Amino acid sequence: MSHPFKPWLALAMQTIPLNDLRRHNAGCNEEFITVASRVLDSGWYVLGENVASFEREFAAFCGVAHAAGVGNGTDALELALRALGVRAGDHVVTVANAGMYTASAVRSVGARPVFVDIDAESLCVDVDGLEGVIAAGPAAIVVTHLYGRLAEIERVVELASSHGIPVVEDCAQAHGASRGGRKAGSFGDIGCFSFYPTKNLGALGDGGAVVTSRDDLADRLRQLRQYGWTSKYVAQTPGGRNSRLDELQAAFLRVKLRHLDQWNAARRAIANRYADGITNARVSVPARMEADSVAHLYVVRTDDRDGLREHLRQAGVSSDVHYPVPDHRQPCMRDDFASVNLPNTEHACDHILTLPCFPEMTSEEVQSVVDACNSWQP
Ligand SMILES: Cc1ncc(COP(=O)(O)O)c(C=O)c1O
Repeated sequence: MSHPFKPWLALAMQTIPLNDLRRHNAGCNEEFITVASRVLDSGWYVLGENVASFEREFAAFCGVAHAAGVGNGTDALELALRALGVRAGDHVVTVANAGMYTASAVRSVGARPVFVDIDAESLCVDVDGLEGVIAAGPAAIVVTHLYGRLAEIERVVELASSHGIPVVEDCAQAHGASRGGRKAGSFGDIGCFSFYPTKNLGALGDGGAVVTSRDDLADRLRQLRQYGWTSKYVAQTPGGRNSRLDELQAAFLRVKLRHLDQWNAARRAIANRYADGITNARVSVPARMEADSVAHLYVVRTDDRDGLREHLRQAGVSSDVHYPVPDHRQPCMRDDFASVNLPNTEHACDHILTLPCFPEMTSEEVQSVVDACNSWQP
């Protein structure tokens, strides 16, 4: 039987996706099936041997003493704040360009986010801008390592610790990013990770983890993720809830953790090909990436985002915006933050565009993205 030519299908097949989880996970399929059937056979599905092993392996990967699996990255942030004793009415300092995950967690504990502006180049927290708000005595600071690049975390920790303020790292986009031999999550008091499927280390569903080298915080986090239990059915720690990692996801994550360094290196290589190859003066690319970035998202800037997006679309290149609406302008927040102005944050949200960057991209696909960017003439 002959197959009729379907131009729409040909076009769809040529489009370079922003990410391709089928391709990404395909290499692990056989191992996934093996470990999944072991979990099935075990009859134990939540917080079991796989979770305990993954926690040990992930803590070692991050260079910290403890990891505790939780339900997702937003829960990780909320539980971290609770473990640090953040309470209703407290202030928590953070940035407003990182998808509102931290602001949601802060509001879940009844605290109020205090937004500081970002550095115009790195798009991470502007540490100079932190000094003013730190003096007001916030209960915690959450630093997001956005797009896979470590923020100036050493400076933040130094400044915060001189005022006795704890630091939480949001590492949801930065699994494995390192500087000076230290990994994301090991600089502050607690590091929070998401294993949402698109993350550099992604589960086949939701998942998250908190990491810390402090024994007291690790104990409290383990209690908080399971109803505040100090022992079975004894809820002693206030603020507890149910946010656990299940055995299947932990088993999949153990398989994938073994590939993470290699995947991160592949992402960086793509990012550096973009940095070298995209020469269109209207497309501003981030600096070349070293170990301190794991290229979770490749974000360029342009003064005509809609124009570039449309040109890329016509060239078969997908793109997206991470994130278009700053937290303080979100519909559920803006009334409370009407007087807050964050010029660098607002400017970035209007000018950023994310290009495809995932470890399995072919060399031809990378070149097509470069060519599409360079052929744009607004
Ligand atoms: C920077 C950042 N923080 C937190 C989260 C929240 O993670 P989750 O979607 O697992 O709740 C995400 C992921 O979407 C993220 O990108």
